[in-house]
Amino acid sequence: MKTIVGLNNFAITFKTQHSNMDVHFSSKTNEWYTPQYLFDKLNDKHNFNLDVCATAESAKCKEYFTIKEDGLKQNWYGTCFMNPPYGREIKYWIKKAYEESLRGVKVVCLIPARTDTTYWHEYIFPYAKIEFLKGRIKFENGYGVKNSAPFPSAIVIFGESID
Ligand SMILES: C[S@@+](CC[C@H](N)C(=O)[O-])C[C@H]1O[C@@H](n2cnc3c(N)ncnc32)[C@H](O)[C@@H]1O
Repeated sequence: MKTIVGLNNFAITFKTQHSNMDVHFSSKTNEWYTPQYLFDKLNDKHNFNLDVCATAESAKCKEYFTIKEDGLKQNWYGTCFMNPPYGREIKYWIKKAYEESLRGVKVVCLIPARTDTTYWHEYIFPYAKIEFLKGRIKFENGYGVKNSAPFPSAIVIFGESID
């Protein structure tokens, strides 16, 4: 088994002894699921209506959008949970969360704490509530493999008044 963790992403190569097949788990793979305990804790507090980006297998709410409906093109509603794809497209999800909050929607996001990025400075610092999480989250991927994130995470909330 070989593991490589890049500086800024999830690049991990996993070689099974049995199949001798390489399975790549990287930021190109968007299937990094929120640990159920963390979602449950957030859900107790926020009572979510909609998971805005998911698959049928990974959806954390009864109502959800998948890549087929394209959550970025939908109108969001109620209180939303968002653990977005962590590739370059994350900035579009943050912008969308901000824009939906202007329509009265609350969006609770679980994202990497990449606080030097433009989207953090443009949308998060001025308009969102932020809670930095202690330690590293162990995400599970679409193959049932758990790995600690090589980056810190934050809960970012759009649509709640900030002091
Ligand atoms: C980090 S995973 C989170 C999955 C799940 N919501 C969770 O919290 O465990 C991001 C999900 O977004 C989905 N996704 C990617 N592009 C999407 C799009 N345009 N619209 C809706 N979902 C999308 C991926 O298939 C993936 O399941």
